[in-house]
Amino acid sequence: MSKPAPLLALNWKMNKTPAEATTWATELASHLPRTGAELAIMAPAVDLSALAWALRDTAVALGGQDVSQHESGAHTGEISAGMLLNVGARYAVVGHSERREYHAETSGVVAAKARAALTAGLVPIVCVGEGLEVRERGGQIEYTLDQLRESLSQVSIDNAGALVIAYEPVWAIGTGLAATAADAEELAAAIRGALDGLYREYASGVRILYGGSVKPGNIAEICAQPNVNGALVGGASLDVASVVAMAAAL
Ligand code: 13P
Repeated sequence: MSKPAPLLALNWKMNKTPAEATTWATELASHLPRTGAELAIMAPAVDLSALAWALRDTAVALGGQDVSQHESGAHTGEISAGMLLNVGARYAVVGHSERREYHAETSGVVAAKARAALTAGLVPIVCVGEGLEVRERGGQIEYTLDQLRESLSQVSIDNAGALVIAYEPVWAIGTGLAATAADAEELAAAIRGALDGLYREYASGVRILYGGSVKPGNIAEICAQPNVNGALVGGASLDVASVVAMAAAL
């Protein structure tokens, strides 16, 4: 099977008000380069309606940064997959390391969120990746694959084709210290192998992104690796010129 089209997913984290998002999106829309990649903005939930309107004439997709494992009801502060779809989202990040670390999200919870997203028709971007201490002792493959299998424990083969996985080593996030292209490929290939075991022929269609200090200068080399199908970008996603440069590089 040929390589799936790359996905350039922008994780704004907790940045930009709806007014700022509108200004940003309007500028992006007037500078969109020719790109082989699908572009998607993982925005704060309050920004999504404004972005959907500002980007209505473009192919730019939207996503949430988290999604509830529940469909509806007494879950104060949570946002359901149905609600995200309703405001025009196509994706939701699940299991970002910041949620795992600072919001006590276990891989069990991540699995339930991935299932809730897929059941509703939203594409989950399931994040996995090791911390520095694991990397330093060379345990990154085993650690990441364990986390992957647990995080996908509620995703059946029927839904697997829609999945996106993001390999984000925690030591590379926000540090300026990106993984090398070879390191990114090593883990992406290992993830692909695990997906083969879980989902057989559907595994080749799953997009595997790399995330962690991606910027215009390193995106092309990383995304050219055989098993890397795009990037999940934090800091460099806040600036229109960087996003235009990254999209143009894919
Ligand atoms: P940075 O690109 O800022 O390192 O963040 C990566 C990330 O966490 C994307 O989800």
